[in-house]
Amino acid sequence: MKDKVIAVSGGASGIGAEISSRLISEGAHVVIADLNSAQAAANAAAMAAREGQRAIGVGCDISSPEQCEAVAEAAVRHFGKLDGIVNCAGISRPHDSLTLPAPDWARMIDVQLSGAFYFAQACARYMLDTGGAIVFITSTNAEAAFPRRAAYCSAKAGVAMLTKVLAIEWAEKGIRVNAVGPAYVATDMTLRNIAAGNVSEDQIKRRIPLGRLAQPPDVADAVSFLLSEKASFITGQSLYVDGGWLAYGYF
Ligand SMILES: NC(=O)c1ccc[n+]([C@@H]2O[C@H](COP(=O)([O-])OP(=O)(O)OC[C@H]3O[C@@H](n4cnc5c(N)ncnc54)[C@H](O)[C@@H]3O)[C@@H](O)[C@H]2O)c1
Repeated sequence: MKDKVIAVSGGASGIGAEISSRLISEGAHVVIADLNSAQAAANAAAMAAREGQRAIGVGCDISSPEQCEAVAEAAVRHFGKLDGIVNCAGISRPHDSLTLPAPDWARMIDVQLSGAFYFAQACARYMLDTGGAIVFITSTNAEAAFPRRAAYCSAKAGVAMLTKVLAIEWAEKGIRVNAVGPAYVATDMTLRNIAAGNVSEDQIKRRIPLGRLAQPPDVADAVSFLLSEKASFITGQSLYVDGGWLAYGYF
């Protein structure tokens, strides 16, 4: 990652913050883009001070193509280039499908699916001469259906297909596109779901053959690999970091 410039959406907290920190410690310069602009800036300042690398925080709602473009512009303005992105911004709002309000459906699709496309599109335009690598954070829900998550599951499955389409379309530009799909990760998002009674920690541990929640560094390991030269012949793939969740089909 030495001197690579990577933009990370959703880098203010959870998985995105861990990925940003990891990339900086591996020598990258990181643009932390997040709806929470204050936390994005604070994370960037703390990480840059700790590692002696450069990092900037940019406020951004990835459901806005213009704001995604502004992130890409900021990356190139500050660091002179853009080598890759990690799209990690996301929301989780379980709700019964029969009563799910249309605006809630639309917001989920806007952020999780359209946002992933807008962020990738805006940034890829700056990688056309040099090539680059894109990693979308999807979920086991790209493959496995959960009740009360119609919009979330549909959006994540959409991003898994988007991964394949962009991979084959942009291969000739030298841009690789892959996805990392975690099972439940121990982050604020999961803690909020546990606190709201949507799922319990015991249920999660029982359902995962390796018997624990994923930790953010588990996801960062996979992302770092897919961004690196070690994955130079890998594109269009979804790598599930799920402790065996998707493989498990028994009682
Ligand atoms: N936590 C899990 O168990 C889990 C499992 C599978 C996949 N994921 C996915 O991983 C990603 C990160 O999840 P997390 O657990 O770190 O969540 P989190 O809530 O801890 O962090 C999400 C971040 O995204 C930002 N964000 C939300 N909407 C945004 C928008 N419109 N534009 C820009 N930033 C926005 C938030 O401000 C926050 O900083 C999400 O895409 C989520 O769907 C999470």
